[in-house]
Amino acid sequence: MARILITSAIPYINGIKHLGNLVGSQLPADLYARYMRLQGNEVMFICATDEHGTPAELAAMNAGIPVAEYCAEMHQVQKRLGEGFRLSFDHFGRSSSGRNHQLTQHFAGRLADNGLIREVAEKQVYSKEDGRFLPDRYIEGTCPACGYERARGDQCENCTKQLDPTDLIDARSAVSGSADLELRATKHLYLKQSAFRERLEDWIETKFDWPVLTTSIAKKWLRDGDGLQDRGITRDLEWGIPVKKGVEDWPGMEGKVFYVWFDAPIEYIAATAEWADANGMPDSEWHRWWRTDLGADDVRYVQFMGKDNVPFHTLSFPTTILGSGEPWKLVDYIKSFNFLNYDGGQFSTSGQRGVFMDQALEILPPDYWRWWLLSHAPENSDSEFTWENFSDCVNKELADVLGNFVNRVVKFGMSKFGATVPGGGEWQEAEQFCAQTISQLVGAYSAHLDNIEIRKAARTLRAIWSTGNEYLQAAAPWSAIKTDPERAETIISFSLNLINLYGRISSPFIPDASAAILASMRSPSRAWPASAAEEMKALEPGHAYDPPDVLFRKISKEEVSIWKNEFAGGSKPDPD
Ligand code: MF3
Ligand code: ZN
Repeated sequence: MARILITSAIPYINGIKHLGNLVGSQLPADLYARYMRLQGNEVMFICATDEHGTPAELAAMNAGIPVAEYCAEMHQVQKRLGEGFRLSFDHFGRSSSGRNHQLTQHFAGRLADNGLIREVAEKQVYSKEDGRFLPDRYIEGTCPACGYERARGDQCENCTKQLDPTDLIDARSAVSGSADLELRATKHLYLKQSAFRERLEDWIETKFDWPVLTTSIAKKWLRDGDGLQDRGITRDLEWGIPVKKGVEDWPGMEGKVFYVWFDAPIEYIAATAEWADANGMPDSEWHRWWRTDLGADDVRYVQFMGKDNVPFHTLSFPTTILGSGEPWKLVDYIKSFNFLNYDGGQFSTSGQRGVFMDQALEILPPDYWRWWLLSHAPENSDSEFTWENFSDCVNKELADVLGNFVNRVVKFGMSKFGATVPGGGEWQEAEQFCAQTISQLVGAYSAHLDNIEIRKAARTLRAIWSTGNEYLQAAAPWSAIKTDPERAETIISFSLNLINLYGRISSPFIPDASAAILASMRSPSRAWPASAAEEMKALEPGHAYDPPDVLFRKISKEEVSIWKNEFAGGSKPDPD
């Protein structure tokens, strides 16, 4: 038995996430957590909402409510949606928690003590009417390149030109509209990341087993140098974690907060502390996951994230950890993902293009989405959601292959032999062969899950389900019953055991259907089968079972065309 710490990149608080976000971290992390638990390991699975930064402030402003209130509400919404998708977090925390305030300030203090922070004087746009400094994207004006009147201080949305706030013509505050702006002197803290180049390089070099996607991004950032420039870790904002050196004030930093990307990964640790607090446990309970001097030396730590998050997890966060000089747990394995596209384009949050987590659950149960998303996870390249592909996949693989197998076996079995597993005779060649094939496939499936090769695992699970179908088709109990009822009993007994096995091993992908299967089989165990061959005799003759409800329904052509329309998104408002 091993101890596995699993974190998913923490989703931004502003707005409901789309299916591309879901399959890029939280869902695959859940698959792995479920599998690791089934294997009997001790798992700590952590996620949270990422609540600081400009986007959160802007979203609250648009909603017309205080940002703290906005975050509290959206946290609940995201938490419930996670539950809707059966994401089995041990804790779903908040980066705005007291624990994260403490820990973020603690890390900053340690970094300062170790000489890894310098103060930099800068000039930044200040709005007198708003009484605050404005981050680049809070400043609007006319684009000097294309004349678009609502260009932002960091970029023109119309012509995509990268801008500085001072480039804008007729610049004004996006908060109040006031044009009474000036450049004022301010001071910020910079983390001396460059001091860690060699240590980070050496560390990444040892990670032969990491996905190429992860190491190639990390190495590119290390080589191009961009990734290791000293990085500003403070902002002139109100919403965020106040800049402090541990528990002490930081002279000259009054009224400033830490940059969202500084405090967000620290929330992985803080959320584990929140978990202990929520369960009335002492600090030692979360220390044993995070402090290698306090019991975490035997923990394996695995992170899940989209590719855009890789630099922050391979360079920035490790710098925070190493720079503290304290024995915090470093990540052991980083699984990263490409992007999921939507029907010939991209998912768009602003254009409401694509399917969002709330909408998905309104139209179909979570297993349907989990199965498609995971079996098409964008591991080696971007992948694409289309309604045709989705409905084909659900109809064939879930309804026809798995659902239908369960249905046919149970219906036939119940009608001929009643609600108990029949006896039958010895296994014949068909059973021997099927059991052997399934054993091999279960071994391969388990190896793919160990390696977090999600598409391969899905493909193998599908093959396991198909093997049962092929067996049943060839063994044909409906013919056997006419001439050799004992033979039909053997086939049904064997098939019921296959169903039971499916329930046991499919739950990382489709937890609801698996639970329904195991409940209907009155399965004696829920753990991963020690040996697939043994498992195929787990339900003994006379064992009672119940008919399961229909596991999966089919998606009709009509539904596909309705949904296609519904989720195509409004065209974005024309800039002119
Ligand atoms: N909120 C970020 C995103 O959605 C991810 C933050 S991950 C963490 O891209 F490391 F900061 F926690
Ligand atoms: Zn422009």
